[in-house]
Amino acid sequence: MEEADLRSRVARLSLEQKVRLLTGADFWALYPEPGAGLRRVVLSDGPAGVRGETWDERDTSANIPSPTALAATWDAERVEAIGRLLAHEARRKGVDVLLAPTVNLHRTPFGGRHFECFSEDPLLTARMGVAYVRGLQNSGVGATVKHFVANDSETERMTVDVRVDERTLRELYLAPFEAIVLQASVWSVMAAYNQVDGSTMTESPLLRTILHDEWGYDGLVMSDWTAARSVEPAARAALDLVMPGPAERFGPWGDALTEAVRAGRVDEALIDDKVLRILRLAARVGGLDGVSPVSPPPVDIPRELRATGAASFVLARNDGLLPLPRTGLGRVAVIGPNAEVARTLGGGSATVFPPYTISPLDGLREAGLDVTFAPGALGHLRTSAARAPWLLRPDGTGPGSEVRFFSPSGEQVGAEQRDGAVFRWMSGFGSIGTPEQIARLEISCVIRATEAGVYQLGVSGLGRFRLLADGAELFDETLALRPGADIAETLMAPPQRLVPVSLGAGQSVAVRLEHDVHSSPMAGFGTFLQLDLEVPHGTDDEEIAAAVALAADSEVAVVVVGTTAEVESEGFDRTSLALPGRQDELVRRVAAASPRTVVVVNSGAPVLLPWAGDVAAVLLTWFGGQEFGHALADVLLGEAEPGGRLPTTWPASAEGLPSTRPDGGVLTYTEGLFIGYRGYDRDGRVPLFPFGHGQGYTTWSYDSITVDCDGPEPAAVSLLAPGGTTPPFPPDKRGVAVCVEVRNTGSRRGREIVQVYASRPDSAVERPAKWLAGFAVVDADPGEAVNVGILIPERSFQHWSDGGWSLEAGAFTLAAGSSSASLPLTASVTVK
Ligand code: BGC
Repeated sequence: MEEADLRSRVARLSLEQKVRLLTGADFWALYPEPGAGLRRVVLSDGPAGVRGETWDERDTSANIPSPTALAATWDAERVEAIGRLLAHEARRKGVDVLLAPTVNLHRTPFGGRHFECFSEDPLLTARMGVAYVRGLQNSGVGATVKHFVANDSETERMTVDVRVDERTLRELYLAPFEAIVLQASVWSVMAAYNQVDGSTMTESPLLRTILHDEWGYDGLVMSDWTAARSVEPAARAALDLVMPGPAERFGPWGDALTEAVRAGRVDEALIDDKVLRILRLAARVGGLDGVSPVSPPPVDIPRELRATGAASFVLARNDGLLPLPRTGLGRVAVIGPNAEVARTLGGGSATVFPPYTISPLDGLREAGLDVTFAPGALGHLRTSAARAPWLLRPDGTGPGSEVRFFSPSGEQVGAEQRDGAVFRWMSGFGSIGTPEQIARLEISCVIRATEAGVYQLGVSGLGRFRLLADGAELFDETLALRPGADIAETLMAPPQRLVPVSLGAGQSVAVRLEHDVHSSPMAGFGTFLQLDLEVPHGTDDEEIAAAVALAADSEVAVVVVGTTAEVESEGFDRTSLALPGRQDELVRRVAAASPRTVVVVNSGAPVLLPWAGDVAAVLLTWFGGQEFGHALADVLLGEAEPGGRLPTTWPASAEGLPSTRPDGGVLTYTEGLFIGYRGYDRDGRVPLFPFGHGQGYTTWSYDSITVDCDGPEPAAVSLLAPGGTTPPFPPDKRGVAVCVEVRNTGSRRGREIVQVYASRPDSAVERPAKWLAGFAVVDADPGEAVNVGILIPERSFQHWSDGGWSLEAGAFTLAAGSSSASLPLTASVTVK
């Protein structure tokens, strides 16, 4: 849409109309404004799927693999296809703008949202982010790159002041944002909760000086949810939209901002610019009259997610046991806490309700293997929501529960038949009532025992709860917020109250849970709770012994260990990188009983694997999305290549890793440029598995590297001296062309990620020993050689100095290979 048209729409609005648009109408949507031809525009989380406006099982969402998994593919085309899939989902669910991608860096694996970010490396993060945004936006759905900036951990995230030197900020933390603004023209940026150098990000001068002035960004800046906390400073900064709304409930703008403009404390031209940016976003997503939304292309979601899962799995170690032969394979012992319940996503705002999930056990069974299962040890720290086959509707028919809603005067005003036992109302109670109109909830269901034993029955949530079983009261208590808890922690890990109930096999009990909505600290916008159930299980000692016996008696043991969304989540950082519970002991004892043990690690971020050298194979599978189990069977059986390479260094111990703990409210990035492999190189530490590492099912030789070759398009030689020219390439196309020849030396078709790292011997500037400068995906048949062209961008040779980008002229080394620790080919390039 023409800029003049947008401006004339702004000019038609009164100050009140304009200011109203600058705060959300509710938790997830912007106000419509007929005066400007603007319809309601809907925003939704998040990186692992498109949740939509409802956050429960009634409105399911395709659950894609975690962003760490996407980055492990190192495959921009695949990630762009995932962006298209998400656009398709967004349109299906009435969503205009996705609150993704998250491009904060893996500064340390302790970071709670590590699983939600791509990589420790700014170039890999930028490439994945650009592809993700292009996939979405070329299909007409807006992306929101977040969280700007230095929101790389969760501890005290609302207030922490991150101190990071300017060079580190530019070369590492801002770099993905810069690439996504300049190369993918992202439509929206989310300002983070934290401060950087003393300014909270919703008031930060960086929004204007960097985003607007330096990068020429014409999109919208929205606050993270409740991150805006001032009238004038936030309005004068380049913050355009406060979320969530309405202003009357969440502040801080609304009437206070209108008043500030009237009093001359905020210039109305600033307001006009913010409204213009909102209308521009609306025009881009088809939210203004006169523009029709682009229709995203159809997509085969299960197929795409299954292939992406396989392409992300990193085969970190394999003594030849994998792939397993399909024919003649005897009994497969499937063991481990993450084998039966698929852990497909991390916790926090990135959670969605998938339509189904394929667990590792389901996937291997469906593949037709002779599978026997033993859980081995408990991996979850909290009891989860009651589910089928134990949870039944009150009339005993299908799985699920019934919710009845009552007004303050005690009258029943609505009811819902639900399929599960997780309840989240974030923006009122839908068509049933506003937060003020609903005072009490009653949840009814039947719990039916599958085996005799002690069941733990209870609730998690905030406020007053009364639980009854067959009419007898089990408790009547108020569950209170942990002082200082973050909103995401409150949502993901609220207080839990459980009561033991003994049941005989097949016995049913009628359960009723009553909740006083207005006693919840969340009552202003709704409430959330879940009915929990822990079913009987043996002690860890008994379960481990049974698993070991099964492994000894089977041909192969597949042990699936990992974390859960309660361990890796928004709202808090991890305090330990160890696998929860006694999983390490489980692996050790199974491996001692069976030399043919494959360990599948199902976590969004690295966990410590102290037994890694003692098992036949280690496959790192991330949080694999809803098709996890299918993808796993494909890879274990060799029907798909384990295509992933590590997007982050996998530590051998927690030693030497940057801390997430602020000191007196300040978190100083003392390690500067040296995060991830840059830090390991500097300190001479050796990780368990290096950045970029991963094996396939074939082998490769690295045969030659040529600088200034004809490979990449356009052939860019502008930086080479002597004789270099300066063609008018856009910044991302300026650089040095290198060609790397690799050959598939194995016996099956395979995939290799050819990686090129730069280094600068004898530099006058402090630098990492090496840094990722380019990469390419190669697929080849046995015996086939491929000469792949890779453009090393100009930025890979630059460093930030004295307020600008500098190039230290002279000779850089480019080293190519299969990981940051295996670089057999080197070449020198002299740049000027
Ligand atoms: C998160 C954002 C998210 C927002 C809306 C915040 O807590 O930090 O990433 O988009 O909530 O759910």
